[in-house]
Amino acid sequence: MTYNDKANQINYPFILPALPYSKDAFASHFTAETFDYHHGKHHQDYVTNLNNLLEKDQNFAGQDLESIILNAAASNNNGIFNNAAQVWNHTFFWHSIKPNGGSKPSGEMLMQIEKDFGSYDEFAFAFKEAAVTQFGSGWAWLVYYEDRLQIVKTANAETPITKKMQPLLACDVWEHAYYIDYRNKRPDYVSIYIDHMINWDFAEENMQKVR
Ligand code: FE2
Repeated sequence: MTYNDKANQINYPFILPALPYSKDAFASHFTAETFDYHHGKHHQDYVTNLNNLLEKDQNFAGQDLESIILNAAASNNNGIFNNAAQVWNHTFFWHSIKPNGGSKPSGEMLMQIEKDFGSYDEFAFAFKEAAVTQFGSGWAWLVYYEDRLQIVKTANAETPITKKMQPLLACDVWEHAYYIDYRNKRPDYVSIYIDHMINWDFAEENMQKVR
């Protein structure tokens, strides 16, 4: 079983998956320029670097992207791990957001949030806190682990799947995710992510796989 079919890829050479919306779809919050750079250059670079490294290292031949991430982590192959994880993390991130998303979810997602965090507001506060306090580059995640929702943050390319946690949502807090539109104001970007961008349908789909 994969952690996420949309973020996983079956075969080398790996590709840059298309965005699930047009790059100007977030125009009121993010310019197309952000997507040109973040998807078209940063995400593309991770794909290119990964393929170049794999061309010279046959230890991962025939493995899917998630297996490469887990095996590279286990064998401390930092070059392949960093690029493979960033390819996966970014594809997962593009699906974690959608135009006119965010704010309070409904249905089972809301019930689970209220069970595990007390209220939606408490969840939103804790998620923002994690995203804002991740020192340097990294990610904030909503995961389902040990029968409950949990918020975790990871540094650089690190990803919760190496700890067997099921990711539900990712928020990219690398500066390249927000610098064009928000400059150094990470808290403003995280608030926009929470209030206007979260794809709760994607989060619920991911939760139902493991709950
Ligand atoms: Fe990024």
